[in-house]
Order: sequence, then C-alpha cells, then structure tokens
Amino acid sequence: MPLTLSKRLDAVIPSATLAINARAQALRAQGVDVISFGAGEPDFDTPANIREAAKIAIDQGKTRYTPVSGIAELRRAIARANETDRGVVTAAENVVVSVGAKSSLFNFALAALEPGDEVIIPAPYWVSYPEQVRIAGATPVHIPSTLEAGWKITAEQLEQAITDKTKAVILCTPSNPTGAAYTVEQLTSFARVLRDKQCWIVCDEIYGKLVYDGFIQRSLLAVAPDLVDRTVIIDGVSKTYAMTGWRIGWSIAPVHLSKAMDTIQGQGTSSASTPAQYAALEAISAPPTELENMQKIFAERRNRLVAGLRALPGVRCAMPEGAFYAFCDVRSWLGKSSGDQRLESDDDVARWLLDTARIAVVPGGAFGAPGHLRLSYAVSLGHIEDALQRMANAYATLR
Ligand SMILES: Cc1ncc(COP(=O)(O)O)c(C=O)c1O
Repeated sequence: MPLTLSKRLDAVIPSATLAINARAQALRAQGVDVISFGAGEPDFDTPANIREAAKIAIDQGKTRYTPVSGIAELRRAIARANETDRGVVTAAENVVVSVGAKSSLFNFALAALEPGDEVIIPAPYWVSYPEQVRIAGATPVHIPSTLEAGWKITAEQLEQAITDKTKAVILCTPSNPTGAAYTVEQLTSFARVLRDKQCWIVCDEIYGKLVYDGFIQRSLLAVAPDLVDRTVIIDGVSKTYAMTGWRIGWSIAPVHLSKAMDTIQGQGTSSASTPAQYAALEAISAPPTELENMQKIFAERRNRLVAGLRALPGVRCAMPEGAFYAFCDVRSWLGKSSGDQRLESDDDVARWLLDTARIAVVPGGAFGAPGHLRLSYAVSLGHIEDALQRMANAYATLR
C-alpha cells in the first residue's frame, strides 16, 4: 500500500499554466506544429552583458553558498534601486534575495500567515497566490473584477472585503493574467483604505517595467511611503530582463519580516544560485538597453493580438496596460459544438483549440475567471497572425 501524502495537498491545485505548457510541449515533441500562448516568460534571450557577468562569476570561483538572503552587493543594489524607483529609504537588511519571486511570495506566506488568517486577492489572480496561502493554512478571499472595469477592483470593494481576520492583501500591478495596471489615483485610493487597517500589503511588481503606450506604473509604496512598515514589495529579474530560468527574485520588507523570511528560506532552500545572483546584479546595475526594445515589441504584439481577438465573433478583450497577457471573454462560444465536441467551459475551449487549431491557451478558470482565456503575447507577430487565422477557422466550424 502506498504511503499517504500530506493533507496539505488536498486544498492545492497544480499550476494550470505549467500543465498547458507541458501538454503543448508534448505535442510539439511529436512533431505537431503548436503555437503556444501559454508561456509566462519573455521569448527573448537574456541580454549578453548579463550572461557574461554570470560566466565571469563562475570563472572567478563564485560558485559557493552565499548568505541565505543573498550577496551583499546585490542586496545593496536592490535597496538603491528601491530608493530610486519607489522613493523610500531602504537598507540591504530589508532585502531577501530568493529563488525567483515565487519563492519570495512563498517565504512571505510561511513567515506571516497562519490558520484562521484571511488573505485578500483580487480576481482574476495569478494562480500561485491562493495556493500558497492555502499551503500556509490560511484562507484566500477573492474580490471579483470585471472586463468592463478594466479588470480592476475599486477602493470601496477593498474596504468591504477587509475584516478582522484579514492578515494580508495582495496587489499585483500590472497583473498576471489580465495585464491590467493601476493608475496613481487608483493606488492612492487603495492607500486611503489600507492606512486604517492592520494588515500586510503585498505588492507584486514583477511586471512593473513592462507597460505600454506611455502608461506610468508607480508603486503603491511610492504613492503611500507612510505604509512602508506594512508593505512587502515582490520583484525580480525574470520578466524585465528575460531571466526566468535564472531563478532570482526578491522581497523588500520591514527588517523583522525580512529576518523571518530569511529563517524560512534558510531551512527551505538556503541562498539562490550564486552565479545567477551576480547576473542579477549586472541586470539591475547596467543601463537597461534591451528593455526598451522588448517594450516596443511587446506593445506591437499586444495591439495586434487584442485587435485580432476583438475581431473574432463574440470575443471581448480589454486593452491591457502592461505585462504580456491578453485576457479575453469567450463565454459566447460556450454551448456551441464542433462536430460531436460540445464546448461547455473554458477548459473545453482550450482543449478544443489545442486539438483542432493547434493553439495552446490557458483557461480562465485557473485564474478565477471561468469563461475566459489567457493568451501570452511572448509570441512572434508572425505566429500571432497565424494563430488568429487558425482561431477564426476553428470558430467557423462551431454550430
Ligand atoms: C504575477 C507573478 N508574480 C510572480 C511570478 C514569479 O516569478 P519568478 O519567475 O521570479 O518566480 C510570476 C511568474 O509567472 C508572476 O506572473
């Protein structure tokens, strides 16, 4: 008889984005021409100066463990960048470098949450927020948003959702999965609500530099520096510098919380990879020459993909301000059939698109928005054009 697994797993859903990518990769391995909109990572190479910095670090023998919270130079550089970007005085002691921003969020969950705590998470949400909260034994509480509202919650909704049990609020701007980003005015209205409440404010700003059409993404911390004692910034190099595989992210938090997160990390993973930390140091210290080019390309793709999705019968899509995702409403497709395949849910639509059009998309239910699809535009313009045509052809078979 197999040994039993932890009950902790009962409440946890495996990552839907990783699952769809695995299925698309398996089809590709069989020689099937799949266009994947499932990726949560830029399709660019890590810039050469960053790769070079890692090679130099390896050649210089920087290949041993580092302090759990990261090398001093990187923590200092992150603190300096935080002062420049968010305008708050920051010390290296406020920074914990982790194995990607995902593990920074996990450190927070394990260091700050306990059973009975509630964590407010606006929906649609990035898949790992509720699952990490559940693993920590706490309860996710979702605030719904709508396409009409640009996938943004209001300060009134936030105020109503906060109770005595609320231990933390997670705000992600620009958002995965919708690309929606909050304006300074919206962040100011959130700060007004949060100022009177006793809870942690977790700001996931991993897509903060990927915004388009001149949108200005400010941090909640820049808007409300007085909240610094309760704010946890989550950031990293994965998206901004096309460094997903290097696995470097960080938290910037009050020192007592950072020490607790260091303790959790010290028993979970120890430090992040040493050469990767030196690469991250180069990424945030050197002029971001490739970033502008990446922003330009993402903006072009966003415009084409959103226009193309909106041109499909019955599909609605808000224009995302940032990140590299389009989130579209396909509820009008539900109830239709293609041959003997009836589309009852977004899962069915995603499976059908993969099977018939060879397009991988992520069903919205995974992000708390059934009836929608997330398409990542970390895909070339040529593939976007091809995929839109394939989708139109597939739609034409629906009855
Ligand atoms: C909103 C959000 N936060 C955090 C992460 C984690 O990033 P990392 O690769 O640094 O772990 C992701 C990655 O998809 C994300 O979309």
